[in-house]
Amino acid sequence: MPRKQSIHGAWANRWIFILAATGSAVGLGNIWKFPYIAGENGGGAFVLVYLVCILLVGIPIMMSEVLIGRRGRQSPINSMRETAYEAGHHGRWAGVGWMGALAGFLIFSFYSVVAGWVLYYIAGMGVGQFVDLGSEQAGLIFNGLLADPATLLIWHTLFVVIVMLVIAGGVNKGLERATRVLMPALFVLLFVLLVYSMNSGHFAEGWDFLFHFDPSELSWDAVLVALGHAFFTLSLGMGSIMAYGSYMGKGDSIGGTVLTIAALDTLVALIAGLAIFPIVFANQLDPGAGPGLMFITLPVAFSQMAGGQVFGFLFFLMVGFAAWTSAISLMEPGAAWLVETLGLSRARASLLLGVVVWALGLLALGSFNVLADLKLLGMTVFDFLDFITANVMLPLGGLFIAIFVGWYLTREMTEDELSLRSALIYHAWRLVIRYVSPAAVAVIFALNLYQKFADGMS
Ligand code: PHE
Repeated sequence: MPRKQSIHGAWANRWIFILAATGSAVGLGNIWKFPYIAGENGGGAFVLVYLVCILLVGIPIMMSEVLIGRRGRQSPINSMRETAYEAGHHGRWAGVGWMGALAGFLIFSFYSVVAGWVLYYIAGMGVGQFVDLGSEQAGLIFNGLLADPATLLIWHTLFVVIVMLVIAGGVNKGLERATRVLMPALFVLLFVLLVYSMNSGHFAEGWDFLFHFDPSELSWDAVLVALGHAFFTLSLGMGSIMAYGSYMGKGDSIGGTVLTIAALDTLVALIAGLAIFPIVFANQLDPGAGPGLMFITLPVAFSQMAGGQVFGFLFFLMVGFAAWTSAISLMEPGAAWLVETLGLSRARASLLLGVVVWALGLLALGSFNVLADLKLLGMTVFDFLDFITANVMLPLGGLFIAIFVGWYLTREMTEDELSLRSALIYHAWRLVIRYVSPAAVAVIFALNLYQKFADGMS
């Protein structure tokens, strides 16, 4: 019989689970990464493919992760093993959980570097350092920050520490408390900024850039990036959502909950795009500027607007909150495993993981300065970590999860956990998880790797 509750605790109610999982999903991926990769990949065409990936791959796999977590009621590693046993299979399925935990560390190590930039900008905006900037000056400030390992180290360290504090608090006194405070604040700030950008005078151009579908813009490359991003932005393929699912109430519906989370995540990404691109166009900046998009273009815009310092401060604060709640979920699978398998206290588990990801982060941090010449597959460590996680490990983890749930778990198990309202919806889900999602991931994933290695070789 499946357990009733995880030893780590349970969310107070269904809405807390939705908010916590949305907190995991909504992060730098939505506000920093989505706009810049949409910008680099031609806008509308990319956005459309990304939306299709969310629907056909993201949502069914997210349902699967929540299902495994709630059935296993343990860390992803142990839940994978437990559910495999229950279905009469080999415990080596735990390997998917191991790969996920590793992906979590690797993502964390570059995530916290970018989050560190965000903290730096919160502070800068807060003390009014970015007044009257031209785009050249803003570029100098950003590049100056990247070239300065000591400053980067301070902010990176601070970010790792605030995540450790929440993890040490545990599910109810840490994760849930952070969720209750940060998520409502995030939504309010996002709304304020959307209204602001709607009045910037260039809203229509931003809208057009994101939603104008021009098939000629559609490259294979864009499809590959869109799939990887669908996993990254929904926190899938590595166990974050599985861990959160293990704290979910038995009576709560998985289908409706997952749809809400995916919809909120997508909405935040689109709103972030709609807040950022009008400002980009209003200031004749380049939408394809890359990772610096948010950090260079926005300070310019904010510095020239009435009240821009306040809005700039609020904007980066919001990004900081979003990054914080996501990073917590990157660490939770590992922390839960350490507690249940090695018997560590939450505080010890958090300290141990914090030190590991902090140290790994130094490599990502150095990519912009002292380690700039260190290349893996032709990429800096930072770019490599981003590529290997988002485009390889997460899709691969998602592929295994889809195959596991679709082909290895028994029908009774999945039907019982999902308890979907109609048999028709269950059949549709099962069809998608058995055939459509794995096929889509396998094809795109294979092309992705092929292209990367072909490019690397030439
Ligand atoms: N979904 C988060 C974001 O968009 C990143 C993340 C990925 C978090 C994987 C957890 C797991 O920023």
